[in-house]
Amino acid sequence: MQTKVKFLGHAAIWVETGDFRLLLDPFISGNQNAPVTVDELEPDYILVTHGHGDHMGDTVSIAKRCNATVVTNAEIRNWLALQNVKSHGMNIGGGYSFPFGYLKMTLALHSSTLDDGTSGGNPGGFLLTTLHNRKLYFAGDTGLFGDMALIGETGLDLAMIPIGDNYTMGPEDALRAVKLLRPKVVVPIHYNTFGVIGQEVEPWKKMVEAETNARVVLLDPGGEILID
Ligand code: NI
Ligand code: MN
Repeated sequence: MQTKVKFLGHAAIWVETGDFRLLLDPFISGNQNAPVTVDELEPDYILVTHGHGDHMGDTVSIAKRCNATVVTNAEIRNWLALQNVKSHGMNIGGGYSFPFGYLKMTLALHSSTLDDGTSGGNPGGFLLTTLHNRKLYFAGDTGLFGDMALIGETGLDLAMIPIGDNYTMGPEDALRAVKLLRPKVVVPIHYNTFGVIGQEVEPWKKMVEAETNARVVLLDPGGEILID
């Protein structure tokens, strides 16, 4: 079994694992760099880390069209339920065995208000243990926090972390995050979509590979990586 992870631009990620298709933070129609159209996406589950528009994105329309289950925090789950979207609410530190693997919601230092002003609860990230026992960490929008070391203790095959600065960790703190997380492979995300999160990623790759054992994989929107 393999797990395929495809970067859809900004913080949107497509995951194929076993017989299941997962879509994380589907900011597609609002992103001119998205490599797919909303209608091409047919996920079984949509995972949403927090309520901001560049993560909620097209969640509601895709979930309704595909009858996908949205996995997110309890507050966003309640907001989705009012719109008749099928959803599963979780909270930080809790995990659940879904058909596609064991998914745990992790801490994120950020905010989560929905675009209409509703409280979107606390922001989070996701730690997925696949059915072939690979560990994939999706940090969500976050600043650096020391408890990334606890997440790293589980032995990460892949970490996808923001490096754009301004709203999340920047390159320097993202390097420190890699030192705490100790993933085999790290993919930087959440940069260059908007002017204030513009970053040069080649120097970051060199710096991280010089100072840690992680392999940095730079994915353009549409690029993918296979986890054996
Ligand atoms: Ni955000
Ligand atoms: Mn964001």
